[in-house]
Amino acid sequence: MAESVNDRCCCSATAEVLEQTAAIAAKGRDRPEMLIPILHQVQAIAGNSIDHQVAQVVAREMRLPLARIYGVETFYSFFSAKKRGKIIIRLCKSAPCHLKGTQGILEAFEKTLGIKAGETTADGKFTLETCECIGACDVSPAALIDGVVYGNLTPAKVSELVSSLGEGVKA
Ligand code: FES
Repeated sequence: MAESVNDRCCCSATAEVLEQTAAIAAKGRDRPEMLIPILHQVQAIAGNSIDHQVAQVVAREMRLPLARIYGVETFYSFFSAKKRGKIIIRLCKSAPCHLKGTQGILEAFEKTLGIKAGETTADGKFTLETCECIGACDVSPAALIDGVVYGNLTPAKVSELVSSLGEGVKA
């Protein structure tokens, strides 16, 4: 059965976030080419996700059909309607990384975080995702974490990496 918007929806944006979203999206009014950079900005303030309410505000302020927002949001894996953690770990699973041990690293992340790929820790700190090539094949196996590439990963490095990432991040 196909996933509907309501299946994915996790509306939890505060009034403040919706207000900030409106201000950001208004900069792209009648400028549809600005949709992707605006969605990046909006997602950053909205807790790493673009829920139904936030998408509605973007559509209204940019004067675009809501379907256009969903189209972009669901096509690009960097966007999500699902609530995600403060830190998103994107582990590359494309061939070069896979051949150099992605599976073992994924299992180490899953064990350390206590979640499976696609899930978020109960404290809301981490989301673990797999993704296609992040352009860091020279240091494979690699992960993209909050815009920073972590390369030459091994299962043994994962626990320490998670600890250092989690320092200072409030649940
Ligand atoms: S295949 Fe993993 S970074 Fe390119």
